[in-house]
Amino acid sequence: MAADHVIAIDGPAASGKSSVARALAKRLGFCYVNSGAMYRAVTWGALHRGIAVQDPDAIAAMAEEVRIACELIDNESRISIDNFDPSPQLHSDEVNRAVSSVSRVARVREIINLQMRRCVASRDVVIEGRDIGSVVFPGTPFKFFLDASPEVRARRRNAQGQRDEIAMRDQADSSRRMAPLVIAPDAERIDTSDLTIPEVVEEILKRLRTKRLSNAAVISHR
Ligand code: CDP
Repeated sequence: MAADHVIAIDGPAASGKSSVARALAKRLGFCYVNSGAMYRAVTWGALHRGIAVQDPDAIAAMAEEVRIACELIDNESRISIDNFDPSPQLHSDEVNRAVSSVSRVARVREIINLQMRRCVASRDVVIEGRDIGSVVFPGTPFKFFLDASPEVRARRRNAQGQRDEIAMRDQADSSRRMAPLVIAPDAERIDTSDLTIPEVVEEILKRLRTKRLSNAAVISHR
């Protein structure tokens, strides 16, 4: 079953996806889905079990074995691994370092996409990620690609108090064979370097109006 309206927000690390996607979903009364959290959760599961994250076969076998689930709670996606919610661990240095190795494993991507599609079936959703507009929901007319200069993105991540080699992660995510980070040809690119979160949300709402998204929140701010 297809979701109803899907707004895809893709982009590199620290481009503002999470804050923008969550705020946009609130404004529209849509659900907010964080696909990156699913890749992070699987990564956490592998690290927790002592599986070598550089070994794609071992990662694929683990992904088959554990129960990876996505559900919507209070209009936001929640991910669990064998019924455990690892949310507090998802932005640890270890997960930041390992997630790109795990997310390039084809079987991991298949399982996550299947669970995510199930979770959002017939819902109105804003989904953030790397391949939502290009691979997961290529048919949606509502695709945005957020970007910002590497300096601004590194500064944002540091301000969050995280050790995160975003340049390395971007390079790995952009060069992998399966579902690399790319701008879908029909996505609208927004440079967020000099914009606040509310400004980016307004910009997206403005563009959604021209795309005729028929939603009260979009229409009432005409
Ligand atoms: O922290 P940041 O917003 O940069 O990343 P995230 O959205 O939490 O995603 C973490 C990692 O998951 C990315 O670096 C990708 O390796 C992977 N990912 C992916 O491959 N496909 C997605 N749709 C979302 C995330």
